[in-house]
Amino acid sequence: MKTSAAVRGVALLTVVVIPLNAAADQSVEQRVAQSRATAQSLMQALKSELQGAMQAGGPVNAVAVCQTRAGGITEGQATADGLRIRRTSLKVRNPANAPDAWEESVLRRLEIRKVAGEDIKTLEYHEVTEVDGNKIFRWMKAIPTAEVCLACHGGDSVAPDVEAELAALYPQDQARGFAVGDIRGAFSVKQAVD
Ligand code: HEC
Repeated sequence: MKTSAAVRGVALLTVVVIPLNAAADQSVEQRVAQSRATAQSLMQALKSELQGAMQAGGPVNAVAVCQTRAGGITEGQATADGLRIRRTSLKVRNPANAPDAWEESVLRRLEIRKVAGEDIKTLEYHEVTEVDGNKIFRWMKAIPTAEVCLACHGGDSVAPDVEAELAALYPQDQARGFAVGDIRGAFSVKQAVD
């Protein structure tokens, strides 16, 4: 009985100790895998919420969905491993989503790689950067424009009532005129390395 109590103790310890060291001990490959999984969950949550809201009340009703975050992963908030995810673009709707200098240069390179023939669905880039002596893992992945996006990010496909709603909420909106297969923007992940 003593042994099993000891084993349980060790098991408990392991459970407590691993998460504390996880972020620092992760390899770059693990960080990339975690970034991919986080982005995928966020994308799935957004897409299903969007579709639900569009079916329930049309695109005007769904405008707020692209603002509110779903699925337990909130844009801009750190996960347990200190991973932060956001969306950005070369043409933003919300100025708060504007890219920083690193993100902007990566977005431009993703566009060049797309033109060179790479598959937009798997276009991504990562790097460990250093800011003020602190190492930061950074990762970005292109977000393709799909048919469902055109109701709010297309050209003529945006209905007048949606247009009015967007103009009222986002007077500086640049996120229009996209076509299926364009890079709408990218997920951007940041995680401290040490
Ligand atoms: C019902 C309208 C609507 C639909 C449909 C929609 N979006 Fe958006 N999208 C918005 C709004 C509103 C914002 C601004 C969100 C904010 O304030 O942060 C936005 C912002 C974004 C951003 C963040 C960068 C920026 O421009 O500010 C990305 C990336 C994005 N949308 C991608 C997509 C993709 C990809 C799809 C299709 C899968 C899609 N959206 C469908 C309304 C929509």
